[in-house]
Amino acid sequence: MSTFNHEVFSHSSKIVGDELVIAGIRAQQLVKEFGSPLFVLDQADFFERAGAWRDALADAFGERAGTVYYAGKSFLCKEVARWLDQVGIGLDVCSGGELAVALATGFPMDRIELHGNNKSEAEISTGVEAGVGTIVLDSFIEIERVAAIASELGKNQRVYLRLTAGVEAHTHEFISTAHEDVKFGFSIASGAAEKAIAQVSSHASLNLVGFHSHIGSQIFHSDGFSVAARKLIALLATYRDMYGRELPELDLGGGYGIAYVPGEKTLVPAQVMRELAEVVVAECAKHNLLVPKISIEPGRAIVGPTTTTLYTVGTTKDVTLENGQTRRYVSVDGGMSDNLRPALYDAEYFAILANRTSTQPEVDTRVVGKHCESGDIIIRAISLATDCGPGDLLAIPATGAYHRSMANNYNHVPRPAVVAVIDGTARVIVRRETHEDLLALDI
Ligand code: LLP
Repeated sequence: MSTFNHEVFSHSSKIVGDELVIAGIRAQQLVKEFGSPLFVLDQADFFERAGAWRDALADAFGERAGTVYYAGKSFLCKEVARWLDQVGIGLDVCSGGELAVALATGFPMDRIELHGNNKSEAEISTGVEAGVGTIVLDSFIEIERVAAIASELGKNQRVYLRLTAGVEAHTHEFISTAHEDVKFGFSIASGAAEKAIAQVSSHASLNLVGFHSHIGSQIFHSDGFSVAARKLIALLATYRDMYGRELPELDLGGGYGIAYVPGEKTLVPAQVMRELAEVVVAECAKHNLLVPKISIEPGRAIVGPTTTTLYTVGTTKDVTLENGQTRRYVSVDGGMSDNLRPALYDAEYFAILANRTSTQPEVDTRVVGKHCESGDIIIRAISLATDCGPGDLLAIPATGAYHRSMANNYNHVPRPAVVAVIDGTARVIVRRETHEDLLALDI
């Protein structure tokens, strides 16, 4: 197991003897008990990371620290909602379905932020009625919609305006969200943001408390966050000049990068928050503003590194390439139904043989899924032992965020279970889908 790399595996993962062990439980034991493929979530690691972001925000901003809103889209289920409550952080939901999870667990509604660029009237009503803390407004039509619903329900709803700061985040185009040509938010540069402020302010049922910006995902350079903070703070100053009072809050979104393959580094919360605080404090001083309460929305950085996917190898095949070289294909029992990210974003992954050590030489291998599609590739190129074959387990780390949450039923493949492991115990927190589950929808 020379390839084991602590940087990309969850904190309780290690090699014991010949095998991968997570929170004291052997990979083979997990698959034997819960089936394959399997998402194995290291619960202590989740608490550690969620707590680290909470503490980093508090340490960097002191009494000006707002709320860490975990981005539910990265991975949400009832048990995760309960954990977030225990850690004492908030939850960002972006659909009625995510809100339903929070409601089902009695999650404190004042710590919920409701997002989305096209919230339905039903989603807005449910949110306002339930008392969600903050609704993030995304369009002029939505300002009217939320204002009307809040007014009808006799509520004064706290709202943020989602703004596009005009930042080109250095990440894949599809996960970059704050350049001008996007569907999200109100552009600052075009003046839409100022119009939105005026429109919100004309409604007695809306209480504008601040601005929101999320520049994109899997970002490693702090420049993007800093530029966004500068632009939002400049707009806070404009607001003060227009309305004679200061808005008390800013939400700077998520997007903090994590390591998927060896050589990459997961961002360190304390460091990122310290750097952000420096910029925020300096910019507020420049504009003679009180420092607003700062909130953030990490998703991937909390749950991404906690989870390892265990797959079972089914077949292998050697194909001869045009240049005469051979490529080994190793097919596993999942694929683009449980990990859509390589197909969507060219995302890269790492794998190790999890059930044993091999002394055989390594060969250039492509790890693929079981779906009827050539693009069903999990890892384009990796060196794996030549004798890796049927029955072996492959472990792919950093698969906690946007894997189970983006899983689908292509080819009628049931979605895997999620098992939480801690201190030598394992329990299902999302059960495996069955063929009966799939058939239950058909008339
Ligand atoms: N806040 C807002 C408003 C967001 O839209 C997102 C992600 C987040 C926070 C959390 O971002 P994170 O810290 O997890 O990067 N499915 C993709 C990325 C799209 C994420 C959409 N929004 C992926 O698999 O990488």
